[in-house]
This record gives sequence, structure tokens and C-alpha cells, in this order.
Amino acid sequence: MEKLYSKKVVSYYKNPVNMGRMNDPDGGAFIKGLCGDIMEIYLLIEGETIYKIYFHTEGCGVTLACGSMLTELVMGKTIQEALKISPYDVMNALDGLPRDGIHCAILAVNTMHKAIADYLLKTE
Ligand code: FES
Repeated sequence: MEKLYSKKVVSYYKNPVNMGRMNDPDGGAFIKGLCGDIMEIYLLIEGETIYKIYFHTEGCGVTLACGSMLTELVMGKTIQEALKISPYDVMNALDGLPRDGIHCAILAVNTMHKAIADYLLKTE
């Protein structure tokens, strides 16, 4: 793993951050990716600001790294700002991903966007 992935990916794989579940999130979602891995995202939102985000997965090490980095990018952002975050942003913040890890970043971002949609629908 150390040879194929950046130091950041390996670090988050070994020590994921903001990993957990919430019982009563303001917005939440899960997606089963095409590879079979599941990503869950939980949000607490005050006004327009996402002040807490957790992820949970039992997927691969890259998925742990993508979930961790995504939560760090989203924490404290407004909904509008979070919607602009792309898989590329997650990849870039991790100092790159190999081709077979890109779908992990896509899965994490898609699940975050779906959790925001859940919040927006609940608060219409
Ligand atoms: S291997 Fe499929 S999400 Fe990571």
C-alpha cells in the first residue's frame, strides 16, 4: 500500500478521522458503489453551515482515506460550498489517487451530495 498510494492516503487509511454514525442526523445518506462498497454520510447543519460530518464505511483503505478527507473538506462549509466539492478536490487533497481508487472519491462525494439532498427535502 505504501508504494502505490500517497503518504496522506496511507495516513488516513491507518488513522481515519470523523468516522462514525449518528442516530439523528439533520441529513444522511448511504450509497452502495458499483464495486459493492457502501459509504454512509451523516450531517449536522445549523442555518446553512455543516458543522459536523461523519462517514462510515467497511470498504477498502482508499475509501477510508476518501471519507476522511471529504469530511475535513466539508466541515464548517456552507451547503452551497459543499455542493461545489468534487471527486477531483478529494483526490487532489490526498495528493492523488491511482486509477483504481478514483471511484472511491466519487462514491464519497456522491454520498455527501445525497445527504445534503436529504436535509433539503426534510426542511422544505
Ligand atoms: S474499492 Fe470501491 S469504494 Fe473503494
